[in-house]
Amino acid sequence: MKRILTGIQPTGVLHLGNYFGAMRPAIALQEEGEAFYFIADYHALTTVQDPARLREYSRGVALDFLACGLDPARVCFFLQSDVPQVTELAWVLSTVTPMGLLERAHSYKDKVAHGVTASHGLFAYPVLMAADILLYDSDVVPVGKDQKQHLEITRDLAVKFNEIYGETFKMPAPRIQETTAVVPGLDGQKMSKSYGNTIEIFAEEKTMRKKIMGLVTDSTPVESPKDPADSTILALYRLVASPEDTARMEDEFRTGGVGYGDFKQRLFGALWEYFAPMRARRAEILAEKSYLDDVLAHGARQARASASHVMGRVRKAVGFKASI
Ligand code: AMP
Ligand code: TRP
Repeated sequence: MKRILTGIQPTGVLHLGNYFGAMRPAIALQEEGEAFYFIADYHALTTVQDPARLREYSRGVALDFLACGLDPARVCFFLQSDVPQVTELAWVLSTVTPMGLLERAHSYKDKVAHGVTASHGLFAYPVLMAADILLYDSDVVPVGKDQKQHLEITRDLAVKFNEIYGETFKMPAPRIQETTAVVPGLDGQKMSKSYGNTIEIFAEEKTMRKKIMGLVTDSTPVESPKDPADSTILALYRLVASPEDTARMEDEFRTGGVGYGDFKQRLFGALWEYFAPMRARRAEILAEKSYLDDVLAHGARQARASASHVMGRVRKAVGFKASI
């Protein structure tokens, strides 16, 4: 059976862009093979350096994934830091990583270009990511376009290691989610934490309504026709409303006579309803005191067993004892 692996960075509270761009596709893939999904908390240390916040985000992301349909009976779901062997593998891989390969990494260069002071962790981020992928003999790695180069680096490192030490790693294939359209935020730009334009999927009713009502629109009067093509309201409505309701809103845009305020109310209603079953599941999980911890502990045990197996191969290949 194919092993599908992906990591999710716990760097904030999940928003609609994360849901439609990453969570929903990952959750759909759990049907296709043996899935390993983890919360990339070692990676998050490159940006979140407040222990309380890191804990809150890690647990929040785990909770939200379960609420949105991740099935722990199918998926091995765990915290990256519960399997410390990954850092051992990252070290071993770093010794076959050419500096130039990391110096050319876009995400590192972008961050530096935006004035982020780079730590060694940020620079070495792709090596840890390669370790994540290779440690579990992954076949398929679903990621967004922005992670494509990291997958190429992973494959390069696997080839290099195998050349030096003999066949040790399985070659992973990326599954780039190109089809997901960019979800726009409140101001029409890409929804992103760094732009402060997000709508959190589990926001309180009042907060979500207020955010939707504050969505930026042009000043076309109520009675005039409006352009459905580049409307943020419609772009979001399409994601959550039925095709019939969407077609009706598009018609009303073209005809005129309905104001943006009404459209926004309708968008809020559709969003609130779309996430209702997930909110209910989330409340259930929260009410079951140890559920989240139990799921993550079980996932960690499974992940550690698999990791020990691959690490045994690696340690033997480089000349260490296979296990300690
Ligand atoms: P981030 O934490 O911003 O890197 O987002 C994590 C993942 O969520 C990304 O790799 C994307 O797949 C997805 N994502 C984030 N924002 C959006 C957006 N506005 N539209 C579509 N997908 C998004
Ligand atoms: N770098 C990924 C992101 O920011 C998260 C991640 C860490 C990951 N390790 C991974 C994704 C391994 C896939 C496989 O989205």
